[in-house]
Amino acid sequence: MRNTFNHNPRNWHPIKGQPLTDMDKRILSFQNRGKLCPKRELIKTKEQIEGIRRAGVLNTAVLDMVSENIKEGMSTEALNQLVHNFTIEHGGVPAPLNYEGFPKSVCISINDVVCHGIPSEDEILQEGDIVNVDTTTILDGYYADASRMFIIGKTTPEKERLVNVARECLEVGMNAATPYCFVGDIGNAIAKHAHKNGYTIVRDLCGHGTGNDFHEEPDVEHYGRKGTGMLLVPGMVFTIEPMVNMGDWEVVVDEEDGWQIYTEDGLPSAQWEHTFLMTDNGLEILTH
Ligand code: MF3
Ligand code: CO
Ligand code: CO
Repeated sequence: MRNTFNHNPRNWHPIKGQPLTDMDKRILSFQNRGKLCPKRELIKTKEQIEGIRRAGVLNTAVLDMVSENIKEGMSTEALNQLVHNFTIEHGGVPAPLNYEGFPKSVCISINDVVCHGIPSEDEILQEGDIVNVDTTTILDGYYADASRMFIIGKTTPEKERLVNVARECLEVGMNAATPYCFVGDIGNAIAKHAHKNGYTIVRDLCGHGTGNDFHEEPDVEHYGRKGTGMLLVPGMVFTIEPMVNMGDWEVVVDEEDGWQIYTEDGLPSAQWEHTFLMTDNGLEILTH
């Protein structure tokens, strides 16, 4: 997740000495109207897409393994070890481990922890908890990033509804993403759906380009105005990962570890994430 300032650079350049392709013409028509366009490096090659696709298959297997093993009474550290060992045994690398100093192989975020929860032996999963497990797998140098919510035993109807609406927010965002749309079209649709259901969207963290690196351009904000943010064209790979709060959108960072993000009001938060490829027909999920 990243948050950088966009100042509308002219990112797109046709290849020197070659005639303009249809894609060049289409992108330049937006760029000439002042829209933020991707750099050419953000368009993945066939080979890169195949690599990211394979990383996605392994990352999905990791999350499926989590869903078979997660249960009341287990520590989040036990789950961390399962994720770590499974990933390594299948030839992958858990991307979170040592990423900018993150100490574990997976993020596990319970109830009012919005994201970046650090697994711990002292943290035991309890009946009624809503838990986000966010795994990112590197395979042959390619990255895939996804997260799911798990409900431990039975929870309250209020928390269950939050989990379901957060999932719908991801789906609504996914359906808003058509080729040559803008990041703001996605965010706008997501925030509308959250607000309609009485919830708020976290603004301090966002989705992101991914695939060749953990976090790439563009920032994929989960709120915003249609027609703003970066133009999304076929070949781009990015995540959508809305964090939906039951109460207010404000969050605070754990001062001790510098990582764990909590809701300021202590109310629960839920998040689902997929890595997507933009195609000529809309988004393809690479982390199914
Ligand atoms: N997986 C998170 C994301 O969706 C990033 C986690 S960074 C880590 O972008 F260091 F905490 F793993
Ligand atoms: Co992500
Ligand atoms: Co993630």
